Amino acid sequence: MALNPTDDSLMGVIICKLEHHSSHSPATYRGYIAMLAVSSTYRGHGIATSLVKMAIDAMAERKADEVILETEETNVPAMRLYERLGFLRSKKLHRYYLNGNSAYRLVLMLRSPSEEAEEEKRVD
Ligand SMILES: CC(C)(COP(=O)(O)OP(=O)(O)OC[C@H]1O[C@@H](n2cnc3c(N)ncnc32)[C@H](O)[C@@H]1OP(=O)(O)O)[C@@H](O)C(=O)NCCC(=O)NCCS
Repeated sequence: MALNPTDDSLMGVIICKLEHHSSHSPATYRGYIAMLAVSSTYRGHGIATSLVKMAIDAMAERKADEVILETEETNVPAMRLYERLGFLRSKKLHRYYLNGNSAYRLVLMLRSPSEEAEEEKRVD
């Protein structure tokens, strides 16, 4: 959460989770950004960028392999923000939302399979 230091009011929020995906081969440890919102009064000052960077850093520290999320294809501010931070479009999800709009799944790779293999070798 980002709180206004003068009155503790809520400026922005990000909600994420981190979980193992054993259905993938090899299994991945995947971060997911479920929600990101900044109050309209505070937009355009880098608050969302800071929240996403903090979430990425926290997930990287916990050894996540990747971070994914979905965003509406027409959401230009969100698409710009995520692509500026290095997220790539991995899939278009047609009519993903209840309103019939489509989404993009975006992915940020944090560790490549070869990096993981190297790390496992060092541990062994
Ligand atoms: C999308 C959303 C989260 C962006 O929040 P934000 O805090 O305004 O985002 P940022 O300020 O980090 O970035 C927005 C712009 O401000 C600019 N910016 C960043 N830091 C800045 C600063 N210190 N001063 C001025 N501008 C700045 C960024 O470069 C960016 O500009 P660009 O899009 O032209 O590149 C916000 O519009 C929102 O809550 N929308 C509704 C909910 C939503 O769509 N959520 C995303 C769903 S996935």
